[in-house]
Amino acid sequence: MIRPFRLVSLVVVLSLYMAVSLGQSEPSLYSIVDNVETLDNRTLELALSAPSMGKFVQFINIFCGHCRRFVPTFKRIAIQLHHWRRLLKVYVFDCAQEQNVKVCRDYRIRQTPTMRFFHSNFRRSEHEIGNTTNLRDFQGIIDFLANQVGNNTYEAEGQPTFELITSNDNQNTIWMKNDLLQSKIKYIVLVYQPKGSTIGRDLLLKTIRWEDVVVRITDDQQLFLNFNLDSSLGSIYPKEDIRLWLKDDGQVDPKKVKLVIFTRSGNSMILKPRKDTIDEYVEVTTDFFRVHGSRVHYLPTTQAPNISFTMDQENQMILSYVLKNKLQIYRSDLENAIHKLIHIEVPKVSVIEGDSLIALRRLIGWLALSKPIGAIGERFFTLLHQKLSQQQRLTGAEFQDQVKELEKQVPKIYKGKRYVGCVSSRPFLRGFTCSLWTLFHYLTVQAAKPPHNTQTIGSLITIYGVVKHFFGCEDCVNHFLEMAQRRQINRSYQRDEEIEWLWSAHNEVNERLANDTTEDPKFPKIQFPRKIDCPECYGANNSNTWDSKNVVRFLKHIYDSDNLSNFGYK
Ligand SMILES: Cc1cc2nc3c(=O)[nH]c(=O)nc-3n(C[C@H](O)[C@H](O)[C@H](O)COP(=O)(O)OP(=O)(O)OC[C@H]3O[C@@H](n4cnc5c(N)ncnc54)[C@H](O)[C@@H]3O)c2cc1C
Ligand SMILES: *[C@@H]1O[C@H](CO)[C@@H](O)[C@H](O)[C@H]1NC(C)=O
Ligand SMILES: *[C@@H]1O[C@H](CO)[C@@H](O)[C@H](O)[C@H]1NC(C)=O
Ligand SMILES: *[C@@H]1O[C@H](CO)[C@@H](O)[C@H](O)[C@H]1NC(C)=O
Ligand SMILES: *[C@@H]1O[C@H](CO)[C@@H](O)[C@H](O)[C@H]1NC(C)=O
Ligand SMILES: *[C@@H]1O[C@H](CO)[C@@H](O)[C@H](O)[C@H]1NC(C)=O
Ligand SMILES: *[C@@H]1O[C@H](CO)[C@@H](O)[C@H](O)[C@H]1NC(C)=O
Ligand SMILES: *[C@@H]1O[C@H](CO)[C@@H](O)[C@H](O)[C@H]1NC(C)=O
Repeated sequence: MIRPFRLVSLVVVLSLYMAVSLGQSEPSLYSIVDNVETLDNRTLELALSAPSMGKFVQFINIFCGHCRRFVPTFKRIAIQLHHWRRLLKVYVFDCAQEQNVKVCRDYRIRQTPTMRFFHSNFRRSEHEIGNTTNLRDFQGIIDFLANQVGNNTYEAEGQPTFELITSNDNQNTIWMKNDLLQSKIKYIVLVYQPKGSTIGRDLLLKTIRWEDVVVRITDDQQLFLNFNLDSSLGSIYPKEDIRLWLKDDGQVDPKKVKLVIFTRSGNSMILKPRKDTIDEYVEVTTDFFRVHGSRVHYLPTTQAPNISFTMDQENQMILSYVLKNKLQIYRSDLENAIHKLIHIEVPKVSVIEGDSLIALRRLIGWLALSKPIGAIGERFFTLLHQKLSQQQRLTGAEFQDQVKELEKQVPKIYKGKRYVGCVSSRPFLRGFTCSLWTLFHYLTVQAAKPPHNTQTIGSLITIYGVVKHFFGCEDCVNHFLEMAQRRQINRSYQRDEEIEWLWSAHNEVNERLANDTTEDPKFPKIQFPRKIDCPECYGANNSNTWDSKNVVRFLKHIYDSDNLSNFGYK
């Protein structure tokens, strides 16, 4: 019998593991240097209620491969958004943390990454959980946010406004508004934005980095007449013959004016962009300031930090144990999968009823019968199953309470804390999704083990239900549902055929993800099992074909409850 954690002192502590970045003890995909702040259940409400400010939150599940692949794009976006930091703060929130479950349920986060905008006066309610975008590309998300930010209100002093000026406005009213004369503002830019255009909004967003300039927008060119443009005669930039700008009566023709700058002393200057494009508007405005020696403040560009990791001793020890031993399945992983399902994934669902309740009952019933975590687990899941059978509808919160209540009635269920077979050599990889596969395979194998119980018929349907209703990994779910349909998960299968179906489906996923950025180099995505682990799983004549009977036999051996390794489990 191996006593795993005695070995710790012998282990040479190598590189890598828990991130020690900027005072955070938990590994995090983002940091303040990326212009992304990490929120948790204690900080989220406060952050979202900050007045006069938009908030952009990416809800993630740390285990979701899609969230990880999205990191470079989101970092680019966040760094770009640093320019708008007067208007918008960028956050990330991890729904895979147990303390965050309630928040993710309240905000109805099912698939991750989920990206939401929250406006200045946001208060969560039944009807308001923020504005979601399903876009995933850099420009699409920036455009979405420009629209959201541009429709938001910022009452606080010194904040920009996207509100159009009215016919009552003139130079005085605009300078008076928010006490601009008392501030360091030197110029007001008034821009004409034809109805349906966003050029004024975009100019505001592009110049928001300048401390001493305020941009105001009008959608009515006639309003330029309120602004005493005649004082600008001779101040057209780039320089041009003034006569081109006058009507017959000698007044400036407002129909020609698109962009005007006012100074504190009441002077106005007309700018003439060559074309009606945002780039032109920005260029002519920038040029003007440069020529007039005005200060323009560019925010510093930021760079992602090189986060250094130190490998946790226990994980290092587990890792070397797993790598040097023969292929086996570890009970600790099953326990972790179950713990996370019951305490995090299921409670995140707002309402469990109909199909999702059926799926949950099947899962719990099945956990009771297949005893992945011993006799206490069996008792617990039997009780929980009885409770669920009496309910027609429950909320994720009620489920969470019932679990807590029942856990008090039995001795401690969960023992191991670490992933073992699902240990990773780098942060954020493997872990939960790996353990979930392991649990699924275990369940198909247990269902096929005599004596057969009629309640364990249809493992695949149970797995399908769990993935569909309770697995918070967007692309995993979508891919799996597509594959389930294509591979006819609904046909009636013999128990052994179910083992084979899942094995084959998992190999398809492995092939798709081979060499993906989510691959752990120490655990490459292979077609399972390798020949070295099961030579007889391969065809006798042609070593590139499977002998599926032997594959099933092999799976039945390694996933059998009697053959599980208790390493790291006690
Ligand atoms: C239902 C589901 C769908 C997923 N879809 C996606 C997706 O679309 N995109 C994405 O990025 N990630 C997806 N994932 C996550 C991904 O499959 C892996 O879990 C993750 O990348 C971690 O990989 P891993 O190296 O730990 O091995 P995993 O693939 O998680 O496998 C876990 C363990 O199972 C054993 N095993 C491997 N293959 C087989 C097999 N064919 N039969 C039996 N046992 C096997 C091995 O011991 C392996 O270590 C999905 C996960 C699940 C549970
Ligand atoms: C956050 O979660 C922790 C752990 O579950 C809990 O103790 C704490 O009260 C929660 N805080 C808030 C503000 O919800
Ligand atoms: C944001 O969502 C709310 C509903 O939650 C909706 O009324 C509002 O129009 C949306 N705003 C924008 C700018 O999309
Ligand atoms: C947001 O503002 C734009 C103009 O900037 C407008 O066209 C659009 O309809 C607004 N959207 C919402 C939801 O209010
Ligand atoms: C991070 O590391 C890379 C390569 O190791 C290096 O090129 C880069 O300058 C580093 N960045 C910082 C901010 O230190
Ligand atoms: C399987 O059948 C059920 C019930 O007939 C149906 O709701 C479900 O969509 C089917 N699933 C697939 C993947 O075909
Ligand atoms: C993954 O990369 C390795 C080499 O880097 C290559 O040998 C292998 O064929 C690749 N696998 C896939 C599925 O692309
Ligand atoms: C456990 O595995 C061994 C091979 O490693 C096999 O001979 C044995 O039959 C397995 N036990 C069960 C119950 O499958």
